[in-house]
Amino acid sequence: MKIPFLDLSRIDNELKETLKAKFSEVLDAGIFSGGKEVDLLESSISRILNSPFSISCANGTDALELALRALDIGTGDEVIVPAMTWVSTAEAVVLVGAKPIFVDTDENGLICSDWEKAISPQTRAVIPVHLYGKMVEMESLLSKAKSHRLLVIEDAAQAFGAFQNGKAAGRWGDIGCLSFYPTKNLGALGEAGMCLTSSSELAQRIRLLANHGQPVRDQHVLIGRNSRIDSIQAGFLNVFLKDWEANLANRKAFAQIYLEELAGISEIRLPSGLDQPDHNAHLFVIQTNRRDELKAFLAESGIGTAIHYPMILPDMKQFRTEGDFINARNLAFQGLSIPLNHMLSSPEVRKIVDDVKSFFR
Ligand SMILES: Cc1ncc(COP(=O)(O)O)c(C=O)c1O
Repeated sequence: MKIPFLDLSRIDNELKETLKAKFSEVLDAGIFSGGKEVDLLESSISRILNSPFSISCANGTDALELALRALDIGTGDEVIVPAMTWVSTAEAVVLVGAKPIFVDTDENGLICSDWEKAISPQTRAVIPVHLYGKMVEMESLLSKAKSHRLLVIEDAAQAFGAFQNGKAAGRWGDIGCLSFYPTKNLGALGEAGMCLTSSSELAQRIRLLANHGQPVRDQHVLIGRNSRIDSIQAGFLNVFLKDWEANLANRKAFAQIYLEELAGISEIRLPSGLDQPDHNAHLFVIQTNRRDELKAFLAESGIGTAIHYPMILPDMKQFRTEGDFINARNLAFQGLSIPLNHMLSSPEVRKIVDDVKSFFR
């Protein structure tokens, strides 16, 4: 039995037909940028996440950059970023001319609770990243940020559908950023992203920035860029949105099996909080100091795994920063993502559990 880490071609036939029908519909309508699919996507996300303003854009990296620009963060400013995250979080900061200041994470990869130590007179914002789908404790982060008059941009790229105290990931900060990259819980058949905000002023600015500064066609009121979403991707996302809750339930059920079955293995540190509403079960990252050996063993047995991520950002030459970043570094050296997605079958999950157990036996 071959079990890829994630095989996006495993879409069931009925869903494939619905996606093909959506493609034909958009083709017949002849509107490929903007239009009713984009409006529907934005209003659906607003409804599901209770977001007053949801502004689609080309991808999650752009969402972060647009958020920073909308908040006027740029040259001379510092932004606090966790050392373990996907590279986009820090890239966006550099792209607007600001400087990322890295802080360590906790053992689960979430920004450490003493991130305030990194505040300087130049600090304008902090970016909590809901890594692997688990939300940062937002109430305490927001109150610290408020006491230092810092802006908060949530990187909720991995956390669509996670809710803390009833409030969605991406809805807590001044602006929240989503990615609909194909591997995400809600993924397009290409690239797409979104900014969420409660501020009509910020929403308007993000819209202008993502569309050449145009409030109406051929009027350009500021320097923007093109980061519009494709209508076809909005259309596909509207199709996928119908199943997001059922898919989440599947992920959670598989995660629960892993948690129960792997609990007794002393050489593994299991992820926490997957059974809570503020985790969307995006990734199941175990930690073991025999990570590379386990990865090879599972590969030999036909099971694909992944590493999120093998290098912390302060170790990359473009971001080089001295520091221990102990927890973040541990994740880079010891973290291994085992398959977790709604398209797995129960026998596959069983085999993954059995093989992990037999490796440590
Ligand atoms: C934590 C995090 N931030 C930002 C992004 C960027 O999103 P995108 O790939 O849509 O640009 C991703 C996704 O890849 C991510 O995982």
